[in-house]
Amino acid sequence: MSYSPAATRYDSAQFYRRCGRSGIRLPLISLGLWHNFGAKDSYENARAIACRAFDLGITHFDLANNYGPPDGSAEETFGKILREDLGQWRDEMIITTKAGYYMWPGPYGEWGSRKNLLASLDQSLKRMGLPYVDIFYSHRPDPDTPLEETMGALAHAVRCGKALYVGLSNYKPEETARAAKILRELGTPCLIHQPRYSMLDRWVEPQLLATLAQENIGAVVFSPLAKGLLTDRYFKGVPADSRASRDTRFLRPDHITDEVLAKTKKLNDLAQSRGQTLAQLALTWVLRHPTVTSALIGASRVSQVDDCVGATRNLNLTGEELAQIEKILA
Ligand SMILES: NC(=O)c1ccc[n+]([C@@H]2O[C@H](COP(=O)([O-])OP(=O)(O)OC[C@H]3O[C@@H](n4cnc5c(N)ncnc54)[C@H](OP(=O)(O)O)[C@@H]3O)[C@@H](O)[C@H]2O)c1
Repeated sequence: MSYSPAATRYDSAQFYRRCGRSGIRLPLISLGLWHNFGAKDSYENARAIACRAFDLGITHFDLANNYGPPDGSAEETFGKILREDLGQWRDEMIITTKAGYYMWPGPYGEWGSRKNLLASLDQSLKRMGLPYVDIFYSHRPDPDTPLEETMGALAHAVRCGKALYVGLSNYKPEETARAAKILRELGTPCLIHQPRYSMLDRWVEPQLLATLAQENIGAVVFSPLAKGLLTDRYFKGVPADSRASRDTRFLRPDHITDEVLAKTKKLNDLAQSRGQTLAQLALTWVLRHPTVTSALIGASRVSQVDDCVGATRNLNLTGEELAQIEKILA
C-alpha cells in the first residue's frame, strides 16, 4: 500500500530543539540506520520503521557510507525507501551521511583526505539517489591528515551543493575547537557534533559539551541506549532477535555483565516510578542538557520507535531523581 504520512506529525512544537546557533531545529529523537537497514535485514521492517518515525515527527535520518552490512547497503535501503515512499517529503527531512571509516581498498578508501571524503560523498549520493545531503560529517578525526585538508573537503562539499551543512563525529574537545575555527574561516560553520553519550558512557561530560556550547554547535548523541543495554531487552537473558545475538560486531553477550544488569534493573525501577520505560528514562537523561539537540536512536522494530518518542512526554527530571541516578551509576 502506498505511504501517506500522518497529518498529526508536527502537532508537538516542543518536539524540536534548535541545533546550536543555526536555523535548523531537529527532533528530540532522531533515527539512525546503522543497524537493521542492511541488505540482509527485512526491507519491509526497515521501511515500516522509517515511515513510522516520519509519522511521529522524526525528520532526521542519520546514515554513513559504511552502514550495512555490507558497507553501503543501508544507504541503498534508504534510497529505495525514498524512491518508493518518503521521497515526496524530501524537503521535510534532514538526511545525513559520513565518511572516514574504511570503505574501499588502497590508500584513499578511509580516513580524512580530501580524496576520500569527496569520493565517498559522491558514492553515498549515488546509493541514496540524492543530489545532496543535509549534513555531511567527518566520521572520525585523522591523526595523519592536516585538519585544514579534512575541513576544506567538508566546506567544498557545501560550496558545490552536495551538502547543506557540515558536522564532526568522534572529535575530542580540543580537535573540535580547532576544526570549528577552520570551518568558520572557510565560511561553512560547523552545525553539529555527533558523539557517543549515555548513562553508561559519559566521556562528553567533562569538556566536550562545554566546548560545543562555547562554539554554538549542537550535539546529536549516538547510542543513548548503550546499543540496547539501557532497555529491558536483556533482563531475562539474551533474546535471539536482539542485537547482542544477531550482530555481535559491537555488542556481545559478554558485555551484558551482572554489574550492568544490577545497575539497569535499579534504573528500570526508577523509570517505572516515573511512569516511563527504562529506554525512555535513558533518553530523558541525555536530553537534560540544552546543548544536546537530539538523541540518536536505533530501532529493530516499530514499537521501539513509539516507545522512544514517548520519552518526550515527560522530560522533567527532579533534583532528587538525578541524585538517585548518580548513586546508581556510581
Ligand atoms: N558517529 C558514529 O561513530 C556512530 C556510531 C554508532 C552509532 N551512530 C549512530 O547512532 C545511531 C544509534 O546507535 P545505536 O543503534 O547503537 O543506538 P541505541 O539507541 O543506543 O541502541 C539501539 C538498540 O536498542 C534497542 N532498543 C531501541 N529502542 C528500544 C526500546 N524502546 N525498548 C527496548 N529496546 C530498544 C534495540 O535493540 P535490538 O536490536 O536488540 O532490538 C536497538 O537496536 C546509529 O544508527 C547511527 O546512526 C553513530
